[in-house]
Amino acid sequence: MIFLCKVTDVPAGRAKRIARGRKPAVAVFDVDGVLHAAADQCTHGTALLSRGKIIDGKVVCPLHSGSFNLLSGAAVDLPCEEPLAVYRLEVRGEDIYAEVPD
Ligand code: FES
Repeated sequence: MIFLCKVTDVPAGRAKRIARGRKPAVAVFDVDGVLHAAADQCTHGTALLSRGKIIDGKVVCPLHSGSFNLLSGAAVDLPCEEPLAVYRLEVRGEDIYAEVPD
């Protein structure tokens, strides 16, 4: 597991982007107080999902309004069809870790 950020870095009801140099960025989403980690890039294009809206457990892409279930990563609304990579997340004290592949 890798360290992503502090719990306090994630705004309520929104997302925190974690840049990782040359590796794909990760986003941590706060869904009604439950945290989820996922890839920060939409599978339909280049939009950053950390800039999307979180509605009913989904993140809605800011570019074409496709959406993904943040628990499963399933694409919910078109034009998104490919699932989003989601990562197992663990909160240790005030720190957030996730199983993010290299
Ligand atoms: S880039 Fe996200 S829906 Fe098109």
